[in-house]
Amino acid sequence: MRIPTWMMDSWNWIDQRTGASATIAPIMDHHVPRNAKWWYVFGSATLMFFILQITTGICLALLYVPSAGEAYQSLIHIDTEVPLGWMIRGIHGWSSNAMVLMMLIHMCQVFLHGTYKFPRELTWIVGVFLLFGTLALAFTGQVLRWDQDSYWGLGIGAAMMGRIPWIGPEVVNLVIGGPIIAGETLSRWFSLHVFVLPGFVILMVGLHIVLILKNGISEMPEPGAVVDKATYREGFEQRMKTSGVPFFPEAAKRDMIFCGLMLLIVIGLAFFVGPFGPLGEPDPTMINTNPKPDFFFLWIFAILALLPPSIETYLILASPVVIVAVLILLPFISNEGERAPSRRPVAVITLVLLVTILAALSQLGVTTPWSPKMDAWTSDTTPRQFVVGRSPTELQGAILFQYMQCRNCHELAGIGGQRGPELDDIATRMTRDQLIRQVQQGGGNMPAFGKNLDSAQTAALAAFLQTLTPDGEHKAVIPAVKGDYPDWN
Ligand code: HEC
Repeated sequence: MRIPTWMMDSWNWIDQRTGASATIAPIMDHHVPRNAKWWYVFGSATLMFFILQITTGICLALLYVPSAGEAYQSLIHIDTEVPLGWMIRGIHGWSSNAMVLMMLIHMCQVFLHGTYKFPRELTWIVGVFLLFGTLALAFTGQVLRWDQDSYWGLGIGAAMMGRIPWIGPEVVNLVIGGPIIAGETLSRWFSLHVFVLPGFVILMVGLHIVLILKNGISEMPEPGAVVDKATYREGFEQRMKTSGVPFFPEAAKRDMIFCGLMLLIVIGLAFFVGPFGPLGEPDPTMINTNPKPDFFFLWIFAILALLPPSIETYLILASPVVIVAVLILLPFISNEGERAPSRRPVAVITLVLLVTILAALSQLGVTTPWSPKMDAWTSDTTPRQFVVGRSPTELQGAILFQYMQCRNCHELAGIGGQRGPELDDIATRMTRDQLIRQVQQGGGNMPAFGKNLDSAQTAALAAFLQTLTPDGEHKAVIPAVKGDYPDWN
């Protein structure tokens, strides 16, 4: 096939002014190891899905309304009225899962082959940032779906963050834009999802690629071929000159075949299975519902559902720090020596253990009921000693307490379920703000009641809960500042 002259002329015009071919040619021609075969396609596939996310994401951002009242409707609108809207949502959802999957496989390969060793330590560290950037994109995206799953996922997330010592409540306020999940929340998560995080990930992808070009693609590990800082770079360059193959078309060919195949699968899934959710507007009173996060968060979900509450807080706070530290420090812990899995039993065992544990937990996450079985079912009237001498607002709260069946999970005067803590003296433990947040958002395995209580009802319930103190003890209540929550005062 001959390229028409006008095309060549246009290209030359651009090329003379930008020097594009001088930049692209070395990238296309740079030599890669001859034995770097199918193991090496997963990074490219991750990148391809990211580009797909950006393109479909732009389309969706044009149609999505990031407001608590309209988000759900706008998704339905995209699904049912916009031509091929459902398909774009489907591709965006499936491709996001595919991107995470490809990234995880890529990471396992890099770990297994010891590719993070000298001189590629920084490539690994940037990769760790990409891992968290991508997971954050996935989580924020799930929130934008604004259905039952996302609302509760966010509630659980907020409850986790609320446990950070000292600054917990401030962090919660920052991320959900107020004491409860509402309109503010959604606009914050929307800007995170469409501006902040993609910007960050694009930057990191750029850096990742620059580093890959600088240090070359690693060879398939071979037993005995040890990495030695003093000689590695020279030897690598020598081997690339003598036995390497040009990136294009040799390695690029495999990348393209694999990416094409993955793309077909994702489009097929979008077409035949369709988009994810939205699964109905959040209904916090449906305590028997079974919200499920996307697959890569299932293990966290299982841990939260199964852990004994006594160690939950420590684990929730400590594990992210430990995980991040270990991942970032890895290339410093071992950055020389053998790369072959057969000579690195500890690495192999670690990976097998990790994968097994995560898979088992994820499996449990699928089957574990979100709120464990309730051992009591009571809408008994609120005991007399808690209602005598109360103000009308407090009495209304007492009725709501009964009507909302809070005692399915909470004991009052020794009667009720034991899923949550007894509430006889709750006013000594929580301030009004905390009470309102707990009722509106739930969290820690308590459903969020926000959508089923209007502000007057929430205020009444909080007023009632504030009277629950053993006689004579002072309330641990910081008086709410007037004007803090205008519609509840
Ligand atoms: C499905 C069970 C369930 C229902 C129904 C439920 N809760 Fe809870 N609640 C819990 C659990 C579990 C916790 C503990 C949360 C944690 O560990 O962070 C909790 C915590 C609380 C707390 C904080 C207690 C403390 O000592 O930290 C308050 C207050 C509370 N619930 C009020 C209510 C009110 C009011 C209602 C009714 C509108 C209600 N709950 C309905 C399960 C439930």
